[in-house]
Amino acid sequence: MSSPTLSKSDSQTEMLSIFRQSLLQANVKGETDFQRNTPHIFVVLGASGDLAKKKIYPTLWALYRDILVPQDTQFVGYARSNLTVEDVRKKCEPYMKVKSEEQEKYEEFWKINTYVRGSYDKGEDFAILSKHLKDQNDRDANRIFYLALPPSVYESVTANIHAHCQDTKGWVRVIIEKPFGKDLASSAKLSDHLASLFKEEQIYRIDHYLGKEMVQNLISVRFGNRIFGPTWNRDNIASVLISFKEPFGTQGRGGYFDEFGIIRDVMQNHLLQILCLVAMEKPCSTSADDIRDEKVKVLKCMDTLTLDDVVLGQYMADPNGTTEDSRMGYLDDPTVPSGSCTPTYALGVCKINNERWDGVPFILRCGKALNERKAEVRIQYHDVPGDIFHGQSKRNELVLRVQPGEAIYCKVMTKTPGMTFGIEETELDLTYVSRYKNAKLPDAYERLILDVFCGSQMHFVRNDELAEAWRIFTPLLHEIEAATVKPLQYMYGSRGPKEADDMCAKNNFKYYGSYKWTKPHL
Ligand code: NDP
Ligand code: BG6
Repeated sequence: MSSPTLSKSDSQTEMLSIFRQSLLQANVKGETDFQRNTPHIFVVLGASGDLAKKKIYPTLWALYRDILVPQDTQFVGYARSNLTVEDVRKKCEPYMKVKSEEQEKYEEFWKINTYVRGSYDKGEDFAILSKHLKDQNDRDANRIFYLALPPSVYESVTANIHAHCQDTKGWVRVIIEKPFGKDLASSAKLSDHLASLFKEEQIYRIDHYLGKEMVQNLISVRFGNRIFGPTWNRDNIASVLISFKEPFGTQGRGGYFDEFGIIRDVMQNHLLQILCLVAMEKPCSTSADDIRDEKVKVLKCMDTLTLDDVVLGQYMADPNGTTEDSRMGYLDDPTVPSGSCTPTYALGVCKINNERWDGVPFILRCGKALNERKAEVRIQYHDVPGDIFHGQSKRNELVLRVQPGEAIYCKVMTKTPGMTFGIEETELDLTYVSRYKNAKLPDAYERLILDVFCGSQMHFVRNDELAEAWRIFTPLLHEIEAATVKPLQYMYGSRGPKEADDMCAKNNFKYYGSYKWTKPHL
């Protein structure tokens, strides 16, 4: 791959060149199918929507700007609304990051965008879309269809793509956003439908957590180091806590959220995917299927969850809150049905019944309207046996902070510096912003959409992984719904229900409250 001329800072140019180099290496090994000289068309279905404006168009712009997508790529928006490209551009504008020196390129980007208006269920509208796609390129282009749409139309849209939009000699790939169904049965129905239309290698089920730097880093940290491997097991690890916290409520998205709840929205997908990467055995290689084979094995070793394994919560208003959002409880959101029992917070304790993990609780915790924004993996080691420090020793913890402020740190005990012989808690700290000063970490969607161009399914969810994930959570979800289990209340801006901390303590996660991190002296 030749390196195009770039007007970037040195570090960014370097990063892009490293990225292209790794694409090239992957291509040489036959692991990706990046056809840089072939025309491509990327179709955003649901181009008028929230996801399209907030994530998809900004991602397409970033990939185009950084010359990561093939040169001859066209972008086509499709939705029911009567819009022009100019209208789509206006909607996206607040989310597009454009530096003044990139303005010319930005104009070029919008010039290769077009928009087609059409329904999601009428074949004739997709025939019009198909003709439009043909008109974009003289040669047969590879086509990517991104379904930035509500799940209610997935079936009709994919059937119409299949029937009307595959008229090309290039490949056709379809990207689907979660939720992939609501339970095991509905997910299986969708999977069967998709399987009747497309081969598995054409289907990209996106879980954007798999595109995050630190989530991808789990494989490198675990399998690229000798020091972690021998201790990565039940003999050394007491518990694993995987957390997702958001400091805001449903913000008008209550209608969607209420139908799904936090378990389906975050735990069954994002957190479970992270769990698989923490727990899986070393794959034979870094190929997509070798990794996904290992993830499925972990899921197969997990029992279904029951009500005894979970703590459920729902946020209530903070009457003294400083923002309008915080003075609104979940049930005050006008888009939420009154008296809803949908949990906005959940903690679930999972067990993996295999030789490596038998007896080690994997605690998944997620919630909205909490005290901070944070996603992290916390691996807590057992107490040191044969204590000689009179109980002063605290457990080691390896923390991978996914966001914000990517970091890996390991809490360790050291001698207090100086004349004393006491010990104290400190850390081995790899904070990305100080170690990799100018590194630009791409947004999760940038990596994942580029993966689709490259034909790499490593960071996408395979059919069998999805089925196993639903198997684990479906009985619990049905039980919660059938019994209309009332979630515990917690205050907007708090750490969630106290019962969740008790459940952590019961499951071998020790919180000392004594650890203090001092920002490194700069
Ligand atoms: P702590 O020991 O303070 O917290 C450990 C865990 O306990 C967290 O999961 C915490 O968060 C949870 N916890 C807090 N209160 C309670 C409670 N009452 N009962 C039970 N559990 C509780 O260590 P941290 O690793 O969180 O570090 C402290 C701070 O230092 C953090 O802000 C961290 O990001 C920062 N730090 C940053 C580093 C870096 O950037 N490189 C390196 C090291 C530390 P929760 O509220 O989610 O339950
Ligand atoms: C989505 C959930 O999958 O992830 C949202 O549907 C959540 O409810 C979002 O807010 C969080 O993503 P991120 O990347 O901001 O952590």
